[in-house]
Amino acid sequence: MSKFLNIFLPAASGTALALGLAFGLAGRDYNKSTIESLEIQLDQANARTSAAQNTSDAQNEVVQALQDRLTTVEANLAAAASQIGSVAEPAPLKADTYQIGRLALSEEIAAWDVDVLPDGRGLPVGSGDVFTGEEVFADQCAACHGDFAEGVDNWPVLAGGFDTLADEDPIKTVGSYWPHLSTVWDYINRSMPFGAAGTLTADETYAIVAYILYSNDMVDDDFVLSQENFADFEMHNKDGFVLDDRAETEYAAWRTEPCMKNCKEEVEVTMRSVFLVETPPEGGSNSVMNSATIDGLPSFSATGPAFIPAATVAPKAPAATKAIVEEVSAEDQEAQLIDDGKKVFKKCRACHEVGEGAKNGSGPHLNGIVGRTMGSVDGFKYSKVFAAALDDGLVWDDEALASFLEKPKSYMKGTKMAFSGLKKASDQQAVIEYLRTFGE
Ligand code: HEC
Ligand code: HEC
Repeated sequence: MSKFLNIFLPAASGTALALGLAFGLAGRDYNKSTIESLEIQLDQANARTSAAQNTSDAQNEVVQALQDRLTTVEANLAAAASQIGSVAEPAPLKADTYQIGRLALSEEIAAWDVDVLPDGRGLPVGSGDVFTGEEVFADQCAACHGDFAEGVDNWPVLAGGFDTLADEDPIKTVGSYWPHLSTVWDYINRSMPFGAAGTLTADETYAIVAYILYSNDMVDDDFVLSQENFADFEMHNKDGFVLDDRAETEYAAWRTEPCMKNCKEEVEVTMRSVFLVETPPEGGSNSVMNSATIDGLPSFSATGPAFIPAATVAPKAPAATKAIVEEVSAEDQEAQLIDDGKKVFKKCRACHEVGEGAKNGSGPHLNGIVGRTMGSVDGFKYSKVFAAALDDGLVWDDEALASFLEKPKSYMKGTKMAFSGLKKASDQQAVIEYLRTFGE
């Protein structure tokens, strides 16, 4: 390298001189950047020429096919537009201002422009009847929303709930709550079936919407929905929404100039967020951590114990504390566990009764469940998997109960117990101990 420089330096500086002169001269008409940009443009032109020469017949065919497709789409759009009425033209693009980008193809705009307005603008041409809708719905939607749009487990309910909107716990469904039919069409078209959005045809969507209306008792079974009768359809809750006028009402009343800096005169750290954690570390307790002060800041380690502040770990009379712990008898522990179990059972009470006179609810009564044959309560209609367990004579012992309660749906595939499970082993144990106190 240095050798190269030594040999060529004189020559190179000579060249630079000559170039400088050349630019100086050229500067009369062109500045340097103009020349450079002309050079770049020339290079690009050359590259384009050779690329063009390389363009194969196959590529030409692709271009032709795309153009044909575009023509068809444009024709369809024009037809659709004339059916629906005038759709506003997209604003002209400012391609010349920034010298970048290109005008979007009408095909591209059409792919994005899928919104449907309450008056039916934006709907594609098409139609669908209740009967077809029922079939598509059973295929594509019922797994989550139920055969009659009544909702499975916690998946959204799409039908019913009329006259509940003023209740404390209103059931907001398409039928009871949604003010415009266009939202139903638009939402389903964009986002359903969950996980396979965009796979429905326009006719299928019309049919499904017709079926959902039917499930809500809003149309008869021979109803056909199309872009023509769409806008005439009125939803129950069409007047239930009001324009947001808070800018004049509430907003003005609440509005004061917000403080953006130095809002508090004196700032003092009173608590560290680590002491406020919801979940105590293994063996730790919230109260211990919450009573820690910043003077006795704990040190932290991955293994844990040092997490509890030294100051509170070493109370004044450690021996006394220990003695109390030892005094807690096995009986007391048992009582504590049963008490905990009673709390856990709150999660079950909506469906299960225990104790004297316990009846079957949505689930069977649970008296004597520990040691009871699975699926054996008279008069309760169990699922198939429970019926099979009864036939096999399977019995609920502690272990089976714990596994079932941890993950009901995987332990008993096909169970109709709609409960997600008790994750914590301690909760499972506690509720089992509680249930054990109820004999036959
Ligand atoms: C895999 C389960 C699943 C399937 C299958 C499914 N959905 Fe949904 N659906 C959902 C979930 C989850 C939501 C709630 C989504 C949210 O709130 O973001 C929902 C919401 C909806 C809603 C809005 C409900 C409301 O009140 O907010 C409608 C309408 C709907 N789905 C219709 C359909 C239709 C029609 C199909 C069949 C073409 C379908 N869904 C298939 C899971 C599913
Ligand atoms: C949403 C209602 C619901 C909730 C909540 C619920 N269960 Fe169930 N449970 C059921 C139904 C329904 C069955 C019957 C299952 C079947 O037939 O598939 C059942 C069955 C059982 C069985 C088997 C009964 C037998 O006769 O074999 C046990 C045990 C049980 N539940 C315990 C619990 C416990 C404990 C909880 C709370 C932690 C709980 N369940 C929460 C509805 C519920």
